[in-house]
Amino acid sequence: MEHTIQTTLILNGAAVTRPIAARQHLVDFLREEMGLTGSHVGCEHGVCGACTLRVDGKIVRGCLMLAVQANGRKVDTIEGLSDSGELADLQRAFHEHNALQCGFCTPGMLMTAQDLVASRPQATRDEIRDHLSGNYCRCTGYHAIVDAVEEVLISRRGGKK
Ligand code: FES
Ligand code: FES
Repeated sequence: MEHTIQTTLILNGAAVTRPIAARQHLVDFLREEMGLTGSHVGCEHGVCGACTLRVDGKIVRGCLMLAVQANGRKVDTIEGLSDSGELADLQRAFHEHNALQCGFCTPGMLMTAQDLVASRPQATRDEIRDHLSGNYCRCTGYHAIVDAVEEVLISRRGGKK
């Protein structure tokens, strides 16, 4: 029988307590046990960024962290940020700039973009590219994504370029 560990985490603001398989990755737990399929799984090796989540306010690779390591911590997913309206302007800008095609990278890209606009409000275009460089997109060529994020940064600065 698979070894499980009783674990409590704050998931999108609500406490969740349950036995979790000791070797299950956080993104797999969220997708398979919690039905939160917005976080995607691409490379499973920490390279592509599709599984990006926020743990205690910092973005992490959900494929590199075990779910039991989230014990006592706050985990936020794209569903939580979307429901709270935290990234509504980014979502709108992605839509308006056609910054997504297949959409596979988009949840992870939005999580990383939100981390950027919250932590580096003065970021330049080059710094946007640098911050997003760990999130791979096979479809868009990145220009539209950078345009969308830049627009939100400028807007959140009150329109100052
Ligand atoms: S699936 Fe986690 S970084 Fe690619
Ligand atoms: S929109 Fe398809 S991978 Fe980015």
